[in-house]
Amino acid sequence: MKTVENKINSYRYTQIFNHPRRFIEGWYWVIPSKRLRKGKVKAVSLLGRELAIYRNIDGKLVCFDAYCPHMGAHLAEGKVEGEGLRCLFHNWKFDSQGNCVDVPCLGTTFPLKLKTWSVDEKYGMIWIWTGETPLQPLPFVPELENFECDSVITSEFIKNCHPNVVMINAIDAHHFNTVHNLPLEIVFRKQQLNENAILFNNITRGGQDSFLMRLIRPFYKKAVTYNMCYWYGSIGTVTLGPDFLHFHIMFALRLLEGGKAEGQTVLITKKRKGIFGWLFNRIVLWLTKLVGNYFAKGDTQIFQTINFDFKTPTKADNAILQFIQNVERQKALRWGSWEPVDEEAEKQRQKKAEMVESKGEAND
Ligand code: FES
Ligand SMILES: [Fe+2]
Repeated sequence: MKTVENKINSYRYTQIFNHPRRFIEGWYWVIPSKRLRKGKVKAVSLLGRELAIYRNIDGKLVCFDAYCPHMGAHLAEGKVEGEGLRCLFHNWKFDSQGNCVDVPCLGTTFPLKLKTWSVDEKYGMIWIWTGETPLQPLPFVPELENFECDSVITSEFIKNCHPNVVMINAIDAHHFNTVHNLPLEIVFRKQQLNENAILFNNITRGGQDSFLMRLIRPFYKKAVTYNMCYWYGSIGTVTLGPDFLHFHIMFALRLLEGGKAEGQTVLITKKRKGIFGWLFNRIVLWLTKLVGNYFAKGDTQIFQTINFDFKTPTKADNAILQFIQNVERQKALRWGSWEPVDEEAEKQRQKKAEMVESKGEAND
């Protein structure tokens, strides 16, 4: 029978959440789009894997595993040539599917194929899917799913703890009062968007007595708008604001060596037409930045020194527990190899079983 203690411990001893060498299969940011111009190639290191990514003359993005199958030169040292990439060392050429199409010293080709990864762009960022075929769309703000957007990438940051731990801050209901001094009670309702995305909506009007809340009450029809949508436990989009103007901020994180987090802040708003629309959006994005800074400011130090250990969850931590459960249910990959965790565990189990079997036979 599962005791209360067991239940609490299941949040402390998780298999994927806060694991320094595991992450969920999904889309992860690589570099801002404007840092990769047409005809250029870049080296990137993502979740323990070395990659070469290039943009061909037509603007199409291609991503390969980094090392040349001839002698291991990093392909990002090479040159984009038409739709393909030529290795600098002995000039072998690979097309955008990774096929070797030219070996100059032989005047022919080898039947070799580089490992390629799905790559795409959204909100001014380049993203890579860490599995074989993308099973989800690129991370998006639910409210803006069907709209063209304007976006600005404001800051790149490193945190001294796991992306999952940084992420829960946005649904840590109690800390809005203690750290950010918000005079309202936040209670979340969870909604599963798809297998990899979970949405938390605030459902409280809250803060009835406070002066601030009485002041802003006319701008809200229902609950105070505060939504957080999580993708792969590492990317979060916040939507907040009065009914007539919602601000959207994406915090896109990825796991770094040693269980740390590296992230990008992206400010997003719906595209508006004409020069006035453009100007209006500059103001909205500037205001969004102020809002984001306000929330980022209060917690900075916590994430440098925290030793996350969820020993004593309370009722106010309910959304955090739901988030952890959601992370635990998704498909996990291993840092560096990008192999499914389960598959490896299965292989190990089979190997052990075979060993035991063969020992048994030897003893017969
Ligand atoms: S190492 Fe790339 S062509 Fe030789
Ligand atoms: Fe916070």
